[in-house]
Amino acid sequence: MQQNVLILDFGSQYTQLIARRVRELNIYCEIHPYNNPPKDISGFKATILSGSPFSVRAEDAPHPDLSEIRGKMPLLAVCYGAQYLAHFHGGKVEASETREYGRANLSVIKDAEVLFEDITENSQVWMSHSDTIKELPTNAVRLASTTDVLNAAYRIDGEETFAIQFHPEVYHTSDGKQLLENFLVKIAGVKQTWTPEAFVDMTVSELKEKIGDDKVVLGLSGGVDSTVAAVLLHKAIGKNLYCIFVNNGLLRKNEFESVLDQYKHMGLNVKGVDASARFLDALAGISEPEAKRKKIGNAFIEVFDDEAHQIQDVKFLAQGTIYPDVIESVSATGGPSATIKSHHNVGGLPDFMKLKIVEPLRSLFKDEVRRVGAELGIDKELLGRHPFPGPGLAIRILGDVTAEKVRILQEVDAIFINGLKEWMLYDKVWQAGAILLPVNSVGVMGDERTYEKVVALRAVESTDGMTADWVPLPHEFLQKTSNAIINRVKGVNRVVYDISSKPPATIEWE
Ligand code: XMP
Repeated sequence: MQQNVLILDFGSQYTQLIARRVRELNIYCEIHPYNNPPKDISGFKATILSGSPFSVRAEDAPHPDLSEIRGKMPLLAVCYGAQYLAHFHGGKVEASETREYGRANLSVIKDAEVLFEDITENSQVWMSHSDTIKELPTNAVRLASTTDVLNAAYRIDGEETFAIQFHPEVYHTSDGKQLLENFLVKIAGVKQTWTPEAFVDMTVSELKEKIGDDKVVLGLSGGVDSTVAAVLLHKAIGKNLYCIFVNNGLLRKNEFESVLDQYKHMGLNVKGVDASARFLDALAGISEPEAKRKKIGNAFIEVFDDEAHQIQDVKFLAQGTIYPDVIESVSATGGPSATIKSHHNVGGLPDFMKLKIVEPLRSLFKDEVRRVGAELGIDKELLGRHPFPGPGLAIRILGDVTAEKVRILQEVDAIFINGLKEWMLYDKVWQAGAILLPVNSVGVMGDERTYEKVVALRAVESTDGMTADWVPLPHEFLQKTSNAIINRVKGVNRVVYDISSKPPATIEWE
């Protein structure tokens, strides 16, 4: 059993970052909403309170019940947490007179404090708050200040309770990880045993125990998550894992064949099902993005169900759900992206399949999935693949989808993506792809007037897809790619480059 750290979430945009930093220290942790904490907390070695968009002075501000935590295990309160401990325990929190957002420099007053060991004097910290702690709570000792914030850190005498106004989880706090390590390892004594190797060992034995000799079915997508889930399960139960890889006809050029080959090479028990025609039929004449997603989702369920029924006595359905999906579905604030587009990982397949669910990656962040994949010996190229949406090229063909449009887009996309690889740009970009626009434009080729399709290229930097910046790809690369596309792809006479960030745009156009 891994030693566990509890992160109580008050709805801050940075809560997931706290968990990621803790995991980077090879320490396991879980995020729970403040209003629905775990019933049994005896397994937790320390607690971290997150920030929050609320002011402690607001009537509807989060009021966590800390009676089982405070004074009973080491506690680190961040931002809102620090204000909460002050406001309700003898201190005073008021609206700040000066704006306290962005970089500041921390001056440590009590240098014998373990919390600040190995942290440079005047190191940079990241502030993001509009309230400020005017007076410390009862029995508190000030530990650090910045120019604008007198009470930037404090601890409570006689308890292992610490509070900091700045955000150690944000990269801009240069010694933030050190501070978290000081708190978790030196103060709370948590062991740093959460490694990919330990995860694989633990998960394989848990899977063996849970599944026994039963059969499991899993839908492979060609993406990192489903592949790592499959390899883990394969390690645990071998041929009793039945993988199904569906070609929805909306994948990248040659992807179905090459990925299927790779899976077979890895020893997976995988069946490739070419259902392109079924998907294209279902999509005929449909232009509205959400309607397309629904058609594709339903077609997938039908195909998958047909295939799953051909396996005798299957008991489990495996899914590649990862931790951010889980957190979002239970978060204190309900998850910000829930209604923007109907991404469909959590919830998964309908009840009628009546299978038990197994989700071996449920506790991992994306970067951890990649590390586990590497530990399992999965090919680097596969682990480094850009994210690709489930509905595939259908949501990059604006308007209705036809076989001819898919062909055009596959050609364009292949030139773009192969070019990125040749120019060593692929790994520098978080996600890239091409979009087929529903407009024709006039061009001239040789002496002839053309009236053909326009494609857009998109390449973004991001860490989790929630926000993204467009990438300023080198001029020469764009020039060569544009030429190659227009010369080689029949039906396209114009290429544009998307220079919109998310927000306000999204990564996909639909
Ligand atoms: P947006 O367009 O919302 O995309 O900025 C964020 C990330 O999600 C992917 N995406 C999807 N993935 N089904 C998926 O599995 C979908 O319907 C879907 N829509 C967007 C997108 O590619 C990006 O990585």
